[in-house]
Amino acid sequence: MHFQWYPGHMTKAKRMMQEDMKLIDVVIELVDARVPLSSKNPDIDQLANNKYRVILLNKYDLADSAQTEKWKEYFEKQGYFVTMVNSKNGNGIRRVNDIVVTACKEKIERDRKRGILNRPLRAMVVGIPNVGKSTFINSIAGKAATKTGNKPGVTKGKQWIKLNKTIELLDTPGILWPKFEDQSVGLRLAFIGSIKEEILNIYELSIELIAFLSTHYKGCLNGRYGIEEQETAEGNLSAIAEKRACRLKGGELDLNKAAGFVTDDFRNGRLGNITLEFPPEVEETLTKAASELEDKI
Ligand code: G4P
Repeated sequence: MHFQWYPGHMTKAKRMMQEDMKLIDVVIELVDARVPLSSKNPDIDQLANNKYRVILLNKYDLADSAQTEKWKEYFEKQGYFVTMVNSKNGNGIRRVNDIVVTACKEKIERDRKRGILNRPLRAMVVGIPNVGKSTFINSIAGKAATKTGNKPGVTKGKQWIKLNKTIELLDTPGILWPKFEDQSVGLRLAFIGSIKEEILNIYELSIELIAFLSTHYKGCLNGRYGIEEQETAEGNLSAIAEKRACRLKGGELDLNKAAGFVTDDFRNGRLGNITLEFPPEVEETLTKAASELEDKI
């Protein structure tokens, strides 16, 4: 399966983000807790150079909590301020204010020394499509928030959402583009539903997903569909089709229909809490980076 992203979108998104970056102190980056690396575009590091950085592991309600903890640690070791949120039901949203303030401690201190008190921290939300940016903004803004920035009759200019005395949030998120460094990134984004269905082969996708689940989350297919787990992913899909009575008119198994069930059940958390990629050991990464550097010298 091959994936691509359209450069036209990318250029416009990048330009808009560069403009918005000039206005803010802290970047709140949303990633999907099920695929924290594949849903993160590393180009943001360059765009957000010299900004304070917060990472929110969103949709943690769908991910494997043990792995989410490890991802939190992984990003913290890289210097980010990290927390988990479920933007859909609001869990963890309250922690975000504190984490933003902690991330900007240095700036608050600097302002205080200069006698500047109560200057709000300005933040913006960024992330690839479908990661939950709008849901998060609605959730954190809540009903109490007031919008500031636009004077009556003036349609241009930025809208800021005043979250509290300390933080103002840009009301439009920055859209990052997915970075398909290798095909496995595209595949994981397809699993979570971040790539348009029309360009996907749902049968192939479900075969890949079933293969992953059988290796890393043994028992979850049995738990959902009551099948005896088979040796191959194809065998498992057939067993699911059988159990769910997915049949074509002539009586043959309708594997595409079963494939649709599997991907849909996964995306909606009905197969359980599942993480699709695991944090590389930070030590391992650092050692590798160090030896690469040595090679270059
Ligand atoms: P975006 O702005 O980054 O593109 O994402 P958006 O907020 O539109 O969210 C994409 C989908 O992810 C939405 O589902 C939204 O409800 C869901 N979502 C966002 N945050 C969370 C979360 O923390 N947990 C879970 N489980 N889901 C989350 P949708 O199916 O497109 O819409 P809807 O059916 O929920 O209305």
